[in-house]
Amino acid sequence: MDAHKEIERLRERIRRHDYRYYVLDDPEIADREYDGLMAVLKDLEARHPEMVTPDSPTQRVGGQPVPGFETVRHRRKMLSLDNTYTFDEVRAWGQRVRKGLEDGEEVSYVAELKLDGVSVNLTYEDGCLVRGTLRGDGASGEDVTTNLRTVRAIPLKLRGSGHEGLIEVRGEIFMARPGFDRMNKERGKEGVSLFANPRNATAGTLKTLDPRIVAGRHLLFYAHSLGDATRATFDTHEAYLKQLKEWGVPVNPETKVCVDIEAVIGRCRRMQEQRDRLDYEVDGMVIKVDARGQQRRLGQTLKSPRWAIAYKFPAHQATTTVQNIIVSVGRTGVITPVAELEPVTCAGVVIRNATLHNFDEIERLGVRIGDRVLIERAGDVIPKVVKVVAAGRSGKEKRFVRPRACPVCGGPIEKEKEGEVAYRC
Ligand code: IVH
Repeated sequence: MDAHKEIERLRERIRRHDYRYYVLDDPEIADREYDGLMAVLKDLEARHPEMVTPDSPTQRVGGQPVPGFETVRHRRKMLSLDNTYTFDEVRAWGQRVRKGLEDGEEVSYVAELKLDGVSVNLTYEDGCLVRGTLRGDGASGEDVTTNLRTVRAIPLKLRGSGHEGLIEVRGEIFMARPGFDRMNKERGKEGVSLFANPRNATAGTLKTLDPRIVAGRHLLFYAHSLGDATRATFDTHEAYLKQLKEWGVPVNPETKVCVDIEAVIGRCRRMQEQRDRLDYEVDGMVIKVDARGQQRRLGQTLKSPRWAIAYKFPAHQATTTVQNIIVSVGRTGVITPVAELEPVTCAGVVIRNATLHNFDEIERLGVRIGDRVLIERAGDVIPKVVKVVAAGRSGKEKRFVRPRACPVCGGPIEKEKEGEVAYRC
């Protein structure tokens, strides 16, 4: 077979595996085999550089770091959402929606998870990714195309047909907890500062100037809305999402059409109960009127559409006071500082202790005994101190002094290696 055909065939195969992995969540081959295909393609392209095209899967990790990001104006403003915190507020919004439409008109909704990530706008021209921007202030945002091109969940080229002209796909870039934990662990070992949560890590990563770093960070993407579209049209939000999946753009599988507002509330309740089972962070639900005709008639205010609303889950965070800092010694001798807290209820559970991870973390957070702190409890993991509420200081707070001796055996505690954050007995 000639090289050109072979290269195209490999690219199609790799794109298909990306699609199965990110969109269908149903991979057909092991990661290693995938890497093998990629290696063959890279090799062929190296021998035929004239055949390298920007939409080739090998072109994700682009060339050189960029000197900075240009700010570009969005063709359509990237709006934000009004928040609600109770089901009654959601019902009241549903009534406002019905009032804004004709008497007795049927309204159905789409309920989606509200991902706690970073929202981006992806511009496709005739099916090819040409630009990716951050939300910025809503009117214009940074052009981070080189970074977004490294995110494997984002197709460089749309599959199938019907994507002529310009289409702006908007969605959320996020990091799953396992990827986040792994990255922070690495950072801890290297002695660089830790990211507070996956959202910060994602935002920090997208603003990194070296796309090779971005490529190594396990960023994920789910599409959730439409920006501008010059040719393609959609009657409903559901139809748009279905089309995206066919084009190979990942859409959150938990998205559901709800026939009325009570169905929406049922769905919110269910997802609220299950939120900790997800391996990524969500802070609520987004509820959208499904019919685009109705969306148009409802219109928007300066900041947010009238046809969509956010329902925020009860917080996983709480503030309380650090009564003492103690150290605990793990099975392997690793010393972990722990904050003893004034008991506080957080997402339905009374919290008395929170981990401070290591002594560097105490420094990084600047925690002192007596401080008011923000704590967070996500899923079944040990609650952690997120930050000090600086406004809460009285001046009586005490600095924590790292003990020189192990509280269990009295032996010395020290760092195993320089550059490591963990101290051991
Ligand atoms: S729709 C016009 N759907 O929440 C509404 N947004 O507070 C456009 N977000 O900036 C957004 N998950 O970054 C929508 N399923 C979802 C979302 C979602 C997260 C973010 C998005 C937006 C913010 C609005």
